[in-house]
Amino acid sequence: MEQLQSILTTALTEMAEIGSLPELEQFKARYVGKQGAITGYMQKLKDIAPELRKEFGAQINAIKQEFEGALQRHRSAIEEQELRAKLASEAIDVTLPGRGTQQGSLHPVNLALKRLIEIFAALGFGVADGPEIECDYYNFKALNIPENHPARTMQDTFYTAAGNVLRTHTSPIQVRYAENNQPPIRIIAPGRVYRVDMDATHSPMFHQMELLWIDKGISFANLKAVISDFMRQFFEDDSIQVRFRASFFPFTEPSAEVDIFFAKTGKWLEVGGCGMVHPNVLNYMKIDSNEYSGFAFGFGIDRLAMLKYGVTDLRLMFDNDVDFLRQFRGI
Ligand code: FA5
Ligand code: MG
Repeated sequence: MEQLQSILTTALTEMAEIGSLPELEQFKARYVGKQGAITGYMQKLKDIAPELRKEFGAQINAIKQEFEGALQRHRSAIEEQELRAKLASEAIDVTLPGRGTQQGSLHPVNLALKRLIEIFAALGFGVADGPEIECDYYNFKALNIPENHPARTMQDTFYTAAGNVLRTHTSPIQVRYAENNQPPIRIIAPGRVYRVDMDATHSPMFHQMELLWIDKGISFANLKAVISDFMRQFFEDDSIQVRFRASFFPFTEPSAEVDIFFAKTGKWLEVGGCGMVHPNVLNYMKIDSNEYSGFAFGFGIDRLAMLKYGVTDLRLMFDNDVDFLRQFRGI
């Protein structure tokens, strides 16, 4: 029993040095495992005289229980220590400065579009839409563009394998809308359009907005008034000069191109085309050209945005350069 008592004393001193749970499990096995030192004494019981067995048995048991009690307390101590270490290592210092968030901004083309819709909504125009992959009929034929017109050539127009086109202008929406709606018609139709074109003022994908007003007694005077008024509102400048330059479009007669003049640059820049809707197109729209007349106007939204925000190269609009885009924050 003395030997056993000294084994216990050594064990308790040894245990005090142990700092991790796996180590503690190994330590436990050395004493109370199958081959353990304390277990060995239990097995020796059978060699002891039967009358002494009970007393020895009780003493061995008491030592074993003391060992296990100490073991349990030490295990809890290690667990608590590990938990504290974990909490300390995962602690968040809420006093550190934050990473900061950046506010995004609308793209200049979207900013312009938003403004355009507001202006025309106030004039009583609704918004219409159409597909970007268009068939020959709406993009060309119903707009009175003949079979051999240069606009149809591969140098200008993207064709799909199935023979459709990426719409080259927003004018096809005029016909689509008029097919399903009776005059009076007063719509704008903004959207993406595509052409084989690329330089500082031309992009293969750009945005146009179409304007269509059909009613009884609509004349070129209405066209000039709406366009001039719109330009002054959009650029917030009553002194802006708008020039109507005689031109030709198969779907309007008479036709004009619209230029605007900026004192800042001292140059005229073309922003769109317009004219009185051609009687042939009214026919395709199933509108009686003896009763109704109307005008259409199609302009480049990107061009207007460039002029409004002082952007000199159209390609900047589509580079997605964050430093460029950030300048439009809060406008
Ligand atoms: C047309 O597209 C006619 N559909 C406009 C029209 C509508 C006339 C209704 C009459 C009645 P045009 O090809 O000129 O016309 O293009 C109109 C405007 O789109 C141009 O003035 C210009 O502002 C813009 N634009 C044309 N090509 C590009 C391009 N590659 N990149 C950016 N803007 C362009
Ligand atoms: Mg033009």
